[in-house]
Amino acid sequence: MGTKSFNTVWHKSVITRGDREKLHKHKSVVLWFTGLSGSGKSTLAHAIEERLYKNGISTYVLDGDNVRHGLCSDLSFTDSDRVENIRRIGELAKLLTDAGIITLTAFISPFKVDRDEARKRMPHGDFLEIYCQCPIEICEQRDVKGLYKKARAGEIPFFTGIDSPYEAPVGSELVINTSDISLEDSVQEVLNLLMRHGVISE
Ligand code: ADX
Repeated sequence: MGTKSFNTVWHKSVITRGDREKLHKHKSVVLWFTGLSGSGKSTLAHAIEERLYKNGISTYVLDGDNVRHGLCSDLSFTDSDRVENIRRIGELAKLLTDAGIITLTAFISPFKVDRDEARKRMPHGDFLEIYCQCPIEICEQRDVKGLYKKARAGEIPFFTGIDSPYEAPVGSELVINTSDISLEDSVQEVLNLLMRHGVISE
């Protein structure tokens, strides 16, 4: 994306990411959850945050529904607004990683190119994509927020999986079949991923 912020000069911070990671006593990283609405992204992200918090690890969850109440409240669900939504979250996650925090993002993030762009903008190895794989039939059966019912009734336009596409990831760092395994086991899989990548040691 081109910039309109001309005549700005980068101010180099005296305190570095490495200093902040030392203070927090762990590395920072982005755990990027993607999947259909109702696939369990937010539930899983918050459960992991709880576990990490108990172990003294600094985290923050960026949740699609919540962020759309503030930072992204000007955006709708058209393709172009979803692109902008994910661009902003990618940038925010990058800042939080620089702040030395483990950031968990829970957005449908339906387009592969946008997820890949968010990855590309991060230092290599800092972006771990986790695909919450769940058949749409099950998401629809769960219908926790009652949105699938409304979308089927034609009350919500551009609903992901119904009249707006979801591009499943290829080559994610982790795929979790949230309809097949328990929340507890899913949390453990993500903790194992963090250990494999040397982010946490427990
Ligand atoms: S994204 O596609 O731009 O990544 P995001 O994760 O921020 O979406 O928001 C998805 C959440 O918004 C869903 O979990 C659901 O609660 C709500 N929502 C409202 N309208 C739609 C829609 N048309 N398609 C998908 N989700 C919607």
